[in-house]
Amino acid sequence: MRDSYERLIIGNKKFAMEKRFDDPEYFKKLSLGQTPDYLWIGCSDSRVPANEVTNTSSGEIFVHRNIANVVVHTDLNVMSVVEYAVNVLGVKHIIVCGHYGCGGIRAAMGHKSFGIVDKWLRHIKDVYFKHHKELDAIADLDKRADRLTELNVIEQVRNLAKTKIIQRAWFDKKPIEIHGWVYGLNSGLITELNVEHDAKEDIEDIYRYEFD
Ligand code: CO
Repeated sequence: MRDSYERLIIGNKKFAMEKRFDDPEYFKKLSLGQTPDYLWIGCSDSRVPANEVTNTSSGEIFVHRNIANVVVHTDLNVMSVVEYAVNVLGVKHIIVCGHYGCGGIRAAMGHKSFGIVDKWLRHIKDVYFKHHKELDAIADLDKRADRLTELNVIEQVRNLAKTKIIQRAWFDKKPIEIHGWVYGLNSGLITELNVEHDAKEDIEDIYRYEFD
């Protein structure tokens, strides 16, 4: 038990030493500030670390993770991250990254209660209901979960486009693109979904804000 904890501290010393060995100025440079081009909104799942799966380093991706990568417009946590990333950091790309084999998606498809997370997963049940004709027609449960994973990412990309933060940025001609990805746990590969949103693509009129 203690050993499994200690290895993190030992690991950290190794990490810091190796980075300094490769570049003595590494931490000094990082400590000056961050200018990431990307915001990553992904699942909390321990198997989908943003930097590792994109072969990027510290300082390159601003990261928000929650169960099943949901963008809820009343969630202060995710909205604060989006606002800071767009208005202060000036990210160029926002990536919503789901993953096949997502436990959150599977839980949302079922009828078991897990506690507080039920309320969070309810957003995914709503995605299911919106697409229930397509999903119910898929007999294989794994394939159905895979499709719900994709549809969930697509909905979360749309949820971003519905926010005032993003609409304001597009109105101000900031070149922000929103992408939807699904990561394959058993291949290590990312699939780009066909849901890119930028200022040219409109969402439904009812969700649009006016600016002057
Ligand atoms: Co997950």
